[in-house]
Amino acid sequence: MNTVSRDWLNKLHKVELHLHLEGSLEPELMFKLAQKNQITLPFESVEQVRQAYQFSNLQDFLDIYYQGANVLLEEDDFYDLTWAYLTKCHEQNVIHVEPFFDPQTHTDRGVPFGTVVKGISRALKDAESQLGISSKLIMCFLRHLSEDEAFKTLAQAEPFLDLIIGVGLDSSELGQPPQKFSRVFAKARELGLLTVAHAGEEGPAEYVWTAINDLKVSRVDHGVRSTDDPKLMKYLIETRMPLTVCPLSNTKLCVFDDMSQHNILAMLEQGVCVTVSSDDPAYFGGYMTENFVALAESLDMSKDQAISIVKNSIEASFASKERKQQMMELL
Ligand code: HPA
Ligand code: ZN
Repeated sequence: MNTVSRDWLNKLHKVELHLHLEGSLEPELMFKLAQKNQITLPFESVEQVRQAYQFSNLQDFLDIYYQGANVLLEEDDFYDLTWAYLTKCHEQNVIHVEPFFDPQTHTDRGVPFGTVVKGISRALKDAESQLGISSKLIMCFLRHLSEDEAFKTLAQAEPFLDLIIGVGLDSSELGQPPQKFSRVFAKARELGLLTVAHAGEEGPAEYVWTAINDLKVSRVDHGVRSTDDPKLMKYLIETRMPLTVCPLSNTKLCVFDDMSQHNILAMLEQGVCVTVSSDDPAYFGGYMTENFVALAESLDMSKDQAISIVKNSIEASFASKERKQQMMELL
């Protein structure tokens, strides 16, 4: 078989649109911050942490992911977390990123909203000048919390809107339909923010429809369950509504039993604007290059298909027209 090499995929210029900064917290940094901030972790060693990363569904993962985020307290902690991710992006030729952060995971522990967003934004700015990585930052609401709490978080964000391009929706999907947040997303749009939402990861294709119709999203995060609904597939193809698909996340969380069963390339061939991202790379065993390698190895992805996926990501990004053009010219 003529598998596309890891080296070629690593050199390919890439764009990441679905990345939770808290999910890029590697165990080594988790331990370092725990020690600095005098927080006790329920693990003895980095190896023990990695061994605990066996998940049978989204909730299994979220429980451990929120626990890990407890070590983040000071502005520099958020800077270091973000900078470590961006360094990895640089190594893997990722040239534009639109990361998510979960403010409520931190404000609920008494960390001020400003501490979080300032630390992250300072690292993003340094990456632009020092590594040539452009970025747009997205703040997510936790969907297992109430609409009222989401409104409070949006109010806390208001002084920092120049640092944020849009809002998203993440955390436990089942039983938490997008329309629970229709009003807060409407308010976010009034404030000039763009919107995205996780939908159709574990939840049904119906949630993809409500993310589009009720939350007026510009992209759907995951959306792999869309293939259950032929009308939705037709809509996605006709409108070029992008899906930010995360292959290693989907197999780690048992959305697909095996990478060979993943539907991303079938959707690509049908004309869906699918993109590839790493979601929570520290927890799911790989960053951008590893996600592309998994598709090459298990689904025999071709070079042309990999390039089409990156072109889709550029098209789906919130970068300026000029930056999009510049990135397209690198392919
Ligand atoms: N789904 C929902 N919430 C999340 C995820 C995810 O894949 N990663 C981090 N928070
Ligand atoms: Zn996600």
